[in-house]
Amino acid sequence: MAEPDKKFEGEQVEVTADTPLIESVSEDVSAEVGDFIQQAAQQNEAAADALPDVKNKPGPYISFEHVYKSFGEFVVLEDVSFFVYPGETLCILGRSGVGKSVSLQMLLGFLKPDKGMIKVAGENICGFKERELQEIRRKVTMVFQNGALFDSITVGENVAFPMRERGEMAEDQILQVVKGLLEMVGVAGMESLLPSDLSTGMKRSIAIARALASQPEAVLYDEPTTMVDPLMAHLLGDLIERLKQQLHLTSIVVTHDMRLAKKLADRVVFLSAGKAIFFGTMGEMEQSQDPILQEFLALDELVTPV
Ligand SMILES: Nc1ncnc2c1ncn2[C@@H]1O[C@H](COP(=O)(O)OP(=O)(O)OP(=O)(O)O)[C@@H](O)[C@H]1O
Ligand SMILES: [Mg+2]
Repeated sequence: MAEPDKKFEGEQVEVTADTPLIESVSEDVSAEVGDFIQQAAQQNEAAADALPDVKNKPGPYISFEHVYKSFGEFVVLEDVSFFVYPGETLCILGRSGVGKSVSLQMLLGFLKPDKGMIKVAGENICGFKERELQEIRRKVTMVFQNGALFDSITVGENVAFPMRERGEMAEDQILQVVKGLLEMVGVAGMESLLPSDLSTGMKRSIAIARALASQPEAVLYDEPTTMVDPLMAHLLGDLIERLKQQLHLTSIVVTHDMRLAKKLADRVVFLSAGKAIFFGTMGEMEQSQDPILQEFLALDELVTPV
């Protein structure tokens, strides 16, 4: 006897970091969503190929080069440098108030550095005008802690928003992709709910679906696993990993969650008192004798025993 189709029995397909995204999507929309995913992956590979080479190798997708930022007398960043290669994940670590969110805002041009250079998609964005910045914000989207969904419209309309705004797809295609994206991020069937009906974890998942709807080249996640239960945190971590692997997305993840950083990071940058005191792989960070890093790692073991 043929195996019953799990998707039609309402049963959850077990998801791991390797599960193809399309496996979470029901059959009636899988052709449309499959095309959408493939288009995004191809676009991101092409974007990586288009970056200027550095020493005969593709250069970073995003880089901070000797960046300084103060608010009045208050110094937030002082000579901070780091980068992320296309298709890789960088985790930004550090205690509260060190400038992690400020760094993300500078990347999108909402704040300007006082000195130094910020490059996105191979271009120095520091002198960019609003119109050029809008183009950068189309390529690089941000998933905010609270989701930053539009409160007065439904979940479905939130996710459809970037596709409707672009105006390249027919309405029935949009509805199919919305359905599939919600299934992919683990919140199937919530199209008609309002953001106020949702938990923090659900809002964040829907914010990821909305980010994907704009087919970005890079996604910035600000604290994706805070204020959600450990299972949801695990699922969100797996989702970020699958998006990186299967859509070739470049990702920056701001987090205090060392487990998440260990799972996702190709590289980490650790900010402390205005400086990037460490930039390298997680393995290198674990080997570091720097007392501040040691303290952060030890504290994490106390909070989240493995
Ligand atoms: N627009 C602003 N004007 C003035 N000060 C600001 C502004 N934005 C941020 N700051 C200050 O810059 C510092 C860094 O803020 P930021 O939000 O980047 O911290 P963070 O590392 O993201 O912390 P957390 O982990 O708590 O989110 C803080 O002291 C904050 O008060
Ligand atoms: Mg922050």
